[in-house]
Amino acid sequence: MNYELNSRRQAEELRNKETVRILSLETSCDETAAAVIENGRKILSNVVFSQIDLHELYGGVVPEIASRAHMEACDRVVDQALREAGMSLQDVDALAVTKGPGLVGALLTGVNCMKGLAFAAGKPLVGVNHIEGHVSANYLSHPDLEPPFLCLVVSGGHSHLVEVSDYGTYHLLGQTVDDAAGEAFDKAARALGLPYPGGPRIDKLAEEGNPEAFTLPSPKTDGRYDYSFSGLKTAFMNTVHTLEQRGETLPKADLAASFRRAVCRELTNKARLLLEERGHEGYNGFALAGGVSANRELRRMSAAMCEDLKIPLFMPELHLCTDNGAMIGSAAYYRLKNGELAGLDLNAMPALRLV
Ligand code: KG4
Ligand code: ZN
Repeated sequence: MNYELNSRRQAEELRNKETVRILSLETSCDETAAAVIENGRKILSNVVFSQIDLHELYGGVVPEIASRAHMEACDRVVDQALREAGMSLQDVDALAVTKGPGLVGALLTGVNCMKGLAFAAGKPLVGVNHIEGHVSANYLSHPDLEPPFLCLVVSGGHSHLVEVSDYGTYHLLGQTVDDAAGEAFDKAARALGLPYPGGPRIDKLAEEGNPEAFTLPSPKTDGRYDYSFSGLKTAFMNTVHTLEQRGETLPKADLAASFRRAVCRELTNKARLLLEERGHEGYNGFALAGGVSANRELRRMSAAMCEDLKIPLFMPELHLCTDNGAMIGSAAYYRLKNGELAGLDLNAMPALRLV
């Protein structure tokens, strides 16, 4: 029987199977990560191999180096995920891989690796949107969370306010008109001479600084729930350059704290405005997703906002905020249940959108 027909039949049977285990792989940027996930909610294993050491020297991700490193690590990381889950390839019900968005070469490595394994094992394959993966990290940390909810997706390439009306159904309510929050953190960190990746470093440094030391402007956007971070970033750079020109020692902790406060205030202010104006009665809660959701100030400010508005807050555990394979396995479960399979013609989609 041909592969695609066989995998469609298997997927049909899986719809009624009580326990479905998915082996997932994520290679969209600089983490080679694999996991085994049960019923979209339970982590049986989650292995993340970070390439930070390889890219640190260059101050950012070098796509060619990332692709090569993924190619070298894929098999090993997948084997380790299976081993830690106490399973063989034949024991899993389906395979999943990030198909986009991300670096094309990095994505292709993962897509080809999983297409090969799916074909060899004769198992169904699901192609997953990386951003849907980030949203789904919340299903792993909060097994009781069900749509509908409002989700603030904040990563290296996204700053989106998304209504999750059902599994796999999203409505975009606000988005950045220029830089993403993670990108802004990375650029501000670079101006302070902090190594890549800048976001977590600025976050750590900011804990020791005074967030009111420097006043940064509040961004203005046409869309009520849209974001803008490029003006904030430029104002921050100008402040740093002025201090440097005056020959002053940079008060790095105060600068980091002031910038972090300004970004997180903007992120939570727009979310609050939306929840106040549109009401939150229809939502089961407010959720954070993406690498920047690991930010301590954003987590504190979101907690304060949700307490004020009396709406439940959902945040992935810290190790599930940044890129990992577990979130891909969770997202894949709901796509699989919906009969959405990838064929052997699955390709990398570097500019794939969530909505
Ligand atoms: O979701 P992610 O791991 O990859 C993408 O899909 O983009 O997000 C990476 C982004 C980077 O810009 C990184 O600096 C930022 O998330 N980030 C943080 C923190 N941890 C990661 N930004 C601020 N504070 C953090 N603690
Ligand atoms: Zn990501």
